Amino acid sequence: MPSIIRSFILKSYFTKNNYLAAKSLVKKNSRYFRTTNTVFHGEYEMKDPKSPEEIVNVVFIDKEGKETPVRGKVGDNVLYLAHRYGIEMEGACEASLACTTCHVYVDHNYTDKLPTATDEEEDLLDLAPFLKENSRLGCQIILSKDLEGIRLELPQATRNFYVDGHTPTPH
Ligand code: FES
Repeated sequence: MPSIIRSFILKSYFTKNNYLAAKSLVKKNSRYFRTTNTVFHGEYEMKDPKSPEEIVNVVFIDKEGKETPVRGKVGDNVLYLAHRYGIEMEGACEASLACTTCHVYVDHNYTDKLPTATDEEEDLLDLAPFLKENSRLGCQIILSKDLEGIRLELPQATRNFYVDGHTPTPH
């Protein structure tokens, strides 16, 4: 795949405009991509809920404390939902569990409602700056009705260890 295309895709935050541009770029260059029927990352999250039963309200809180309420839906991945609404959650590895740039703090009222973190997620979280006991990786949180009203706070900073020069060691 030409590096310019790859770079564009990886840097895209999937706001409405560049999501469509990225999608069209992928389509035009489909010979460079191996795809299944699944998924252009974040495509599902760009869709509005089909019914009120699907709605899951989420509040993102940025590092300055500014709150942004958004209307998500059952099945949304928090990382891509954040991208849809311009929330500064990087997601450098596109949810492939190879970074910590989607680090969030989960409101204590909701931590028990999430599935337990996998060993892989835990290992990555150990590398995240500003780790707290309610830290999770945003790309591993999938919205369900139980999470209605969840508040997710972004840490002061995240670190992309590949760019910042740190190589995670396998456990
Ligand atoms: Fe890299 Fe979540 S985006 S682990």
